[in-house]
Amino acid sequence: MQQPFAYRDNRMHAEDVPLDSIARRAGTPCFVYSSNAILGRYHAYDRAFGDAPHRICYAVKANGNLAILSLLAGAGAGFDIVSGGELFRVLRAGGAADKVVFAGVGKTAEEVEYALEHGIHSFSCESEAELSLIDALASRLGTKARVSLRVNPDVDAVTHPKISTGLREHKFGIDIQAAEEIYARARWHSHIQMEGVSCHIGSQLLRAGPLLAALDRVLALVDRLREKGIPIQELDLGGGLGIPYRPTDEAPSIEDYVAQVKNRVAGRNLTLLMEPGRSLVGEAGVLLSRVLYRKTNAGKEFVILDAAMNDLIRPSLYEAHHEILPVKRDPSRGTVKADVVGPVCETGDYLARDRELANVLPGDLVAISTAGAYGFVMSSNYNARPRAAEVMVAGDGWRIVRQRETFDDIIRGEMA
Ligand code: LLP
Repeated sequence: MQQPFAYRDNRMHAEDVPLDSIARRAGTPCFVYSSNAILGRYHAYDRAFGDAPHRICYAVKANGNLAILSLLAGAGAGFDIVSGGELFRVLRAGGAADKVVFAGVGKTAEEVEYALEHGIHSFSCESEAELSLIDALASRLGTKARVSLRVNPDVDAVTHPKISTGLREHKFGIDIQAAEEIYARARWHSHIQMEGVSCHIGSQLLRAGPLLAALDRVLALVDRLREKGIPIQELDLGGGLGIPYRPTDEAPSIEDYVAQVKNRVAGRNLTLLMEPGRSLVGEAGVLLSRVLYRKTNAGKEFVILDAAMNDLIRPSLYEAHHEILPVKRDPSRGTVKADVVGPVCETGDYLARDRELANVLPGDLVAISTAGAYGFVMSSNYNARPRAAEVMVAGDGWRIVRQRETFDDIIRGEMA
């Protein structure tokens, strides 16, 4: 797959647009997304499934910008949502409600009602109490809700503990051992149609093995349920496919992963759903930032940027690695080993620690790579910092798809 961000004449471009020209007009910090990279990855999933019945439901939580949602809706994607707010976004962006799946352990009655009123495709249900709530609300609205149970297959995702979800002790899903009985009991809910089984074991998996092990367990459950006369038609495998954050990371390709899934499911007459988030948008975005200062404290070098943990919290929260590259490459400058930090007033505010990077100086621009997923969506106004602008590039054109916040935006709704 073509790299969306690459150097031409030592200037980093997003597709055909030099990043420095975006920074000049949109300001920094600013997220820049490549629309063709997003579409390319969506089509890679879609093509890999070929004729096999399937739906790719983009996980909105990874990046919910309306421009990204409408791009994917236009390509035919469905959406995986985890809140009423995400459904609102999908509908605003022109997404089809009947291609939406709704997951999450804590859906409120208001959210369930909102989703039922709009006729979403299905609920991924995470407890028996939630089943009863959906049944009662569907009955009140005179409709029938399609439901799959999210089962917890007890498979170790081998990823960061904070983004691993598939072990028995995690809050997610229903113990796969208990699931059969719950499916049987659910037949008594007259406003629920149990159509599917879903699972999601974690995020940023750099090996397909655990995903396939979970699939095997869930397929065995589907077979047992069918034997008992519960006509499961759909299998939702969640998201989770990892992406390379470091130059040395190797992630399974979308094509290989889908091919292995397809092989295992073949002949079973099941529609396959997937909920990729990171693997669609992660590599398609960078966070563009300017160097404010350089300084040395007790022999330690610091590169101080105008982007901070409030813009991209992944390094602080998960010790995540994001490559930091100079927008203008000048090999004669050499490198420096430094902590790359932002202006937020706490020691946990860093984008990289002890990192060997280009010897950037005040005024230089840097691109913090692989920031398209779980970047802007996890940003905050901490330290009363306006949230960054977002830009979408297509070929040699680009546009702002979210204005940088103003100070007035920050205090909207507050009363002195
Ligand atoms: N489906 C469900 C039910 C999920 O919980 C998630 C992610 C996805 C799909 C999408 O997974 P993906 O394809 O993006 O791996 N903030 C963390 C990641 C949290 C993921 C939560 N669930 C991070 O920055 O790494």
